[in-house]
Amino acid sequence: MERTLSIIKPDGVSKGVIGEVIRRFEKEGIRIVGMKMVRMTKEQAKAFYAVHADKPFYESLTDFMSSGPIVVMVLEGENVISRNRELMGATDPAKAAPGTIRADFASDVEKNIVHGSDAPETAAKEIAFFFSDFELLSN
Ligand code: RTP
Ligand code: MG
Repeated sequence: MERTLSIIKPDGVSKGVIGEVIRRFEKEGIRIVGMKMVRMTKEQAKAFYAVHADKPFYESLTDFMSSGPIVVMVLEGENVISRNRELMGATDPAKAAPGTIRADFASDVEKNIVHGSDAPETAAKEIAFFFSDFELLSN
């Protein structure tokens, strides 16, 4: 069993696809063990994306991610890290496979509807960034 952090980004919330994204997870048999809606400050967005601090898109990305509410979820299941990234599709929606969340709903490489952790270590860090233990189902 694996866990991963999923975020419905501000564009996903404003486009009204919260329910559709969650439906795709549930349809795949992925279990949601934590969920809330929050709005990050610019400082929190910079901390969350610290790994991208030297990228040219860091300022713009952290402006975007703090521009409105997001839905953060902890997903649980077998190989859920890679399964979630398959459901999401490639970072750039123009390159995302048909039927993926980003191909269906994203407008550009930055405003791409969802985030998903990319490895077990980053998943653990990202889950701890948003959730304390008592906010997550334990069984
Ligand atoms: P995420 O972390 O959000 O799940 O997406 P990812 O792994 O597919 O993409 P990553 O390379 O980690 O980039 C994080 C987020 O930064 C924005 N981005 N903008 N303008 C650009 O070229 C660019 N590249 C990436 C996207 O919002 C991406 O999801
Ligand atoms: Mg990433």
